[in-house]
Amino acid sequence: MQTADAQLLILCALARGPLHGYAVNTAVKEVTGERLGRGSLSSALARLEAKGLIEPLEMQGRQRPLRLTDAGRAVLERELHATALVTQRMFEAAVPDRVAYQRRLSGVEALHTYRDVMVRALAPVPGQTVLDVGCGPGGDVPLLAGAVTASGRVLGLDREPRMVADARARHGQRSGVAFLGADAHALPLASACVDRVWMHRVLQHAADPALVLTETARVLRPGGRVVLAEPDWETLVFDHPDLEASRAYTRHVVDRIIRNAVVGRQLARRATEAGLAVDAVVPVTSALRDAAEADRVLGFQRNAERAVTAGYLTAEAAQGWLDALAAGPFLASVTVHVVAASRE
Ligand SMILES: C[S@@+](CC[C@H](N)C(=O)[O-])C[C@H]1O[C@@H](n2cnc3c(N)ncnc32)[C@H](O)[C@@H]1O
Repeated sequence: MQTADAQLLILCALARGPLHGYAVNTAVKEVTGERLGRGSLSSALARLEAKGLIEPLEMQGRQRPLRLTDAGRAVLERELHATALVTQRMFEAAVPDRVAYQRRLSGVEALHTYRDVMVRALAPVPGQTVLDVGCGPGGDVPLLAGAVTASGRVLGLDREPRMVADARARHGQRSGVAFLGADAHALPLASACVDRVWMHRVLQHAADPALVLTETARVLRPGGRVVLAEPDWETLVFDHPDLEASRAYTRHVVDRIIRNAVVGRQLARRATEAGLAVDAVVPVTSALRDAAEADRVLGFQRNAERAVTAGYLTAEAAQGWLDALAAGPFLASVTVHVVAASRE
């Protein structure tokens, strides 16, 4: 920890009232999870006192409590204000456009460490027909079209007309590629008409995942294969000094933001219940190490605000949580379950 950080932490610790030196360090530990080293504490206290930002209370005895001076309080407020400005600049507050958001997600490499696992599990071969259920703006379509080559077909299906239009505009001119606006709960396709189904981050949003999987099994040819990949949002963890606030943020995502937030861990069971034979279950954990990039996926600011409204976090805890995230270093991780299953 740098001296300037240590001084700021001491100012924060004294903001609620006078404390003895050892109690200052206890208050610092409550916020950061660790005490300042003895040398670091005493040199930071000496510097703050020399600058007139803290002062000992006039009391008898050797252990005189320390308090903030007016100048110290002003410096603390200025520093916290500057940190809040950095946080606000780093984290977006507005809800992004849905199509732009999905396109952006396709570009986050850290989230796609499992895509190679999916392709290997799907094992598409030239000439086959692949159905991409919930294709969004079609980010995975080039990968699938490349695997089945021009002799095969890729059909991207999505219930949102804007997603279909965007996917068509970007990839519709490719030979063998087509897009269809339809609901995965009632696929407008004949039974046993596709060789492979790719379903990537769709069941987490489906009203009835069991029905979507039954429909998937219906359109697969005997011997055909489906690959499913869904996050388990309860595995979303942060390296953050405020563990309780991090847990509250994740609980809110699980309870209120994502409809089927833990469907990832249920995939193998649900595929079996839909009459499919499960061939492989591979949980893959992705690490996000860039706070701004993670924000584009997780919407820290707006979801923290929603968590406050829903009573999962106090406004103060949410702001402190965001400020510490922005100050970095940053690390978050989430596990995506990849399941391959076939129709016998
Ligand atoms: C998180 S996006 C994933 C897009 C794409 N599969 C990917 O991973 O880049 C989820 C997509 O599933 C679509 N979707 C959700 N429920 C659906 C349903 N019942 N039928 C068809 N599409 C659906 C949404 O419109 C959205 O485009």
